Amino acid sequence: MKVGIIGSGGREHALCACIKKSKNVEKIYCFPGNAGTSYIAENINVDLTNFESLKSLIKKLKIDTVIVGPEKPLVDGIVDFLELNQIKVFGPNKKCSQLEGSKIFTKNLCKKYNIPTANFGIFSNIEESKIFLKKCNFPIVVKADGLAAGKGVYICETLMQSLDAVKEIFDGKFGKAENVLIEEFLKGEEMSFFIISDGENYKKFGTAQDHKRVLEGDKGKNTGGMGAYSPSRLESKTLDKKILERIVEPTLKGLKSMNTNFKGFLYVGLMIVNNEPYLIEYNVRMGDPECQTILPRLKTDFADVINACLNNKLKSTNLEWYEEKSICIVLCSKGYPDKYQNNIEIKELENLILNKNEFIFHAGTKINNSKVFSNGGRVLNIVNISKNLKNSRKQIIEILNKLNWDNGFFRKDIGFKIIDV
Ligand code: AMP
Ligand code: GLY
Repeated sequence: MKVGIIGSGGREHALCACIKKSKNVEKIYCFPGNAGTSYIAENINVDLTNFESLKSLIKKLKIDTVIVGPEKPLVDGIVDFLELNQIKVFGPNKKCSQLEGSKIFTKNLCKKYNIPTANFGIFSNIEESKIFLKKCNFPIVVKADGLAAGKGVYICETLMQSLDAVKEIFDGKFGKAENVLIEEFLKGEEMSFFIISDGENYKKFGTAQDHKRVLEGDKGKNTGGMGAYSPSRLESKTLDKKILERIVEPTLKGLKSMNTNFKGFLYVGLMIVNNEPYLIEYNVRMGDPECQTILPRLKTDFADVINACLNNKLKSTNLEWYEEKSICIVLCSKGYPDKYQNNIEIKELENLILNKNEFIFHAGTKINNSKVFSNGGRVLNIVNISKNLKNSRKQIIEILNKLNWDNGFFRKDIGFKIIDV
């Protein structure tokens, strides 16, 4: 079978590498992919907002199945569009993608189905927000409703900060804003919990712990993710049961009552407070870098899993996982998440020799005359799988030291809550 993967990050390289191992996959195309995917797939440069030209390419190349990696095309309705054109595609439709595309949609769903989440209010102008904020305890969280590439969330310590946040949102920093979401600050530990669903049935698809802050010790600005390990140290049967019964199932039921079904990966972003799960956010895709830690642990043929989902047969598909744990450190361009330089060659990459339990998934890279150059803030993901996370992390750092990329930096403390120094 021929597979098309949409996206160009570390998550998509991991999806690509995992499906490449499948016995029935003869060819993979990445739209547009990165330097890493170009070694195992054919990269096709295309504007992802142009659904028509994407569809024509998919038809011309006779691609059997498309997997969508990032949220933007999902929220924009790529699944509905491709399905309308008789193309098999794995990912949620536009209606379901509102779970990520509109924080207010999700909050209202939580309210209707009694799903545990931070208490919240929705306000349609600065004045109303101000009256409310003046009565609040701090810290408080102010959020823009729509997609904001991970930037529309403000954790505010003071009234002044929260008023600034509200103003920025209504001033249109993240696009035209009709509402702002203000919610209670939850103090606990975050956990990324994943399910895969065929629209009728779902299965758990692993857990991970992301490290979103740019500096060691979880300090500094928020980023897309500086590293992760899987499974999360919080994972347990009791907690799984609470998450599935109180959060996932009512959500899927809620979508059904809107006459739709969730098909794809669902990323449940949680805050665990005294062993109780609260929903912080939904993403309608795999996490990045969580995906890079979860997929290498999957034993079952990945293409079989995707096909089972596309044929409503997930129920009878057994998902098997390797027992080893995995950890990923992200190599970033200096300056990220603010300004950074692109087009810097990563010279030592071709000299690295990896063991069987080590993987490099490219993110912001591109290839030019067989040389690899940086092309983004998050550049490479180094992953190691073993029974011992401390050892794994040490080996990743050795690889990063060998790489010795002048323009890069990374966090040496990924997994610090579970690995003693
Ligand atoms: P989000 O984009 O919703 O994932 O928010 C980005 C980050 O902000 C999350 O990963 C959390 O670390 C933090 N955050 C969001 N909402 C809350 C909340 N209600 N309480 C505490 N932290 C939050
Ligand atoms: N790792 C965070 C995200 O994928 O949104």
